Amino acid sequence: MEKKIVFSGVQPSGGLTIGNYIGAIKNWIDLQDKYDCYYSIVDLHAITVPQVPKDLRKNTLDLLAIYSACGLDPEKSTIFIQSHVPAHAELTWVLNTITYMGQLSRMTQFKEKSRKSKENLNAGLFTYPVLMAADILLYQTELVPVGEDQKQHLELARDLAERFNNRYSPTFKVPEPLIKEEGARIMSLQDPESKMSKSDENENGYILILDEPDAIRRKIKRAVTDSIGEIKYNDEQLGIKNLINIYSAFSGDSIEEIENRYKGVGYGKFKEDLAEVVIEGLMPIQKKYKEIINNKDYLEKVYREGAEKANYIANKTLRKVYKKVGFIQR
Ligand code: AMP
Ligand code: TRP
Repeated sequence: MEKKIVFSGVQPSGGLTIGNYIGAIKNWIDLQDKYDCYYSIVDLHAITVPQVPKDLRKNTLDLLAIYSACGLDPEKSTIFIQSHVPAHAELTWVLNTITYMGQLSRMTQFKEKSRKSKENLNAGLFTYPVLMAADILLYQTELVPVGEDQKQHLELARDLAERFNNRYSPTFKVPEPLIKEEGARIMSLQDPESKMSKSDENENGYILILDEPDAIRRKIKRAVTDSIGEIKYNDEQLGIKNLINIYSAFSGDSIEEIENRYKGVGYGKFKEDLAEVVIEGLMPIQKKYKEIINNKDYLEKVYREGAEKANYIANKTLRKVYKKVGFIQR
């Protein structure tokens, strides 16, 4: 039986947060044994906001090293850099022509980004979800493990697959999102109503995978809670709920186990313990990252081999698409 195909990606736009880790990468690891997985570093997406070229290069290799350090294994999965597979940009163009402007202007992420950065309202930000659809559809992907915030983009990918299939003939698999319920949305430590994001101006709002232990302790200590004083998982206490989610993701303990353990215990002690749980959970990743990041030969080997495999599969789909829309074969 053929293995189902999984695709996901993260933008190389600076340090990864534990939100990226819990919501996305951590879930990718277990999928490697069961599915045929493609994990990309989506640099084409990253340039929809201004990037310093030198930093983008560094962040791309950094992310590759973090992928490896987290346990993504190039022997099991195809790990590659998006811009190394030209079919992503090529399919995006075709999909752009069947995407309605109205659909794109309803995308929450676009609306948020355009509110925040009026001076950088470029067309790439607008068609960003179409590029994401191309990423997914090129590989005949069935499952896309992402955080909750990407659900709307996934809907668009499904829509475009169906529209193309109906207009021409069956070409694309229609992908399903794979969103873990707990931890699908790790919230800012400073504002538990908005998601944890590395673009937060306040660095106390997020924890980076590569943060030093002292920074982790300090940020968790300052995390916003409430005056109720009980460690209970509910929507009245969004700060505590978020901290419990983080605790659970790193320790593997269930929500109930954590609630029971901390019955009658103060927030101070809970936060101290949580900091240690996070530090311990990140330690092996940080250690491995430090080993890999200086091994440029290894990193290069991984992304070259990944691109070769990805190009082969992506081009198969692109050829079909080009033929169906009526382009003369090259
Ligand atoms: P990005 O950093 O926007 O490229 O996101 C990469 C992946 O991490 C996507 O699958 C997101 O859904 C996921 N992600 C980002 N931030 C969070 C968060 N705060 N909680 C859960 N998942 C997240
Ligand atoms: N847009 C995603 C994000 O910001 C990253 C991404 C790009 C992606 N292409 C993808 C995720 C394809 C899953 C599948 O998080």
